[in-house]
Amino acid sequence: MKVFVSRTLPGDTIDALRSAPDLDVDVWENITPPPRDEVLRRVAGCDGLLSMLTERVDDAVFDAAPDLRVVSNMAVGVDNVDVAAATRRGIPVGHTPGILTDATADIAFALILASRRRLVEGVDLVRAGGWVPWYPEFMVSQPVAGQTLGLIGYGRIAQAVARRARGFDMEVLVHTRTPPEDPDVTAVSLDELLERADIVSLHCPLTSETRHLIDADALASMKPTATLVNTARGAVVDESALVTALRQGTIAGAGLDVTEIEPLPADSPLPSLPNCVVIPHLGSATIPTRTLMAERAVQNLLAGLAGRPLPHTVNPGVVSAP
Ligand code: GLV
Ligand code: GLV
Repeated sequence: MKVFVSRTLPGDTIDALRSAPDLDVDVWENITPPPRDEVLRRVAGCDGLLSMLTERVDDAVFDAAPDLRVVSNMAVGVDNVDVAAATRRGIPVGHTPGILTDATADIAFALILASRRRLVEGVDLVRAGGWVPWYPEFMVSQPVAGQTLGLIGYGRIAQAVARRARGFDMEVLVHTRTPPEDPDVTAVSLDELLERADIVSLHCPLTSETRHLIDADALASMKPTATLVNTARGAVVDESALVTALRQGTIAGAGLDVTEIEPLPADSPLPSLPNCVVIPHLGSATIPTRTLMAERAVQNLLAGLAGRPLPHTVNPGVVSAP
């Protein structure tokens, strides 16, 4: 059997895969993603694909790989995969939930602190030699402790952010499809959340329903002292509306780990806005988490190749023939 792995994997995960019997492992040995035509060429004749969130996996890929029996995405989010098309073709799709929860919640909280307390502006100022003697209104900012945190989506990552918020004495509002039975949070409508939260943090998957959920109207409903934090997927936010809101002071600031186009295009105004902190999709980027994600992606891949149910799948019930 043959598999295509669209990037070098951390640790010795790739060696584990290479030592699997009768498996021809083709790895894209590059830190930049394989171009689309390269993906289509390399998947031809493959039984398995281990993909990253940077590769679009859709009907064109499935057409190029008629023998494909498993897609293993090394991410919890699968918006880069046409799951409906995979399901129609009987191809199980694996992902890596659970193990990146704390790493991503840490980054969400780091962005809350950085954007509310002007950490990056402060660092820039010191580096530029702009540190002036202490005075009462020097670099004053929005507080974090005791504030109201609004979580959109309440999966594992959002729950982990809510746990961190408890240590900061925050009130936690949640908007989600199925209201949680968690006594420590208050389920509210999206409108109420946007109006009441000092910090709005996004934790929903990107779907046709959540694309541009945070648009100009949503931003206008937020408090002028509020901060938007996105560690989910860039396209949940209408980025041009966000730029306008940040420039006009409709909201106080934003902390973004994800953007509509990644890497952020060189002409994007976001990084140069003083009230915006942008970091390059670091949510799951700890050494142990990335290693676990790779291991889990390999487990999903091998299960699919063997015709066994994937340990972690987004289309349960779809099992490739043994
Ligand atoms: C990262 O963004 C992931 O979905 O794992
Ligand atoms: C991630 O693990 C999530 O489900 O939020």
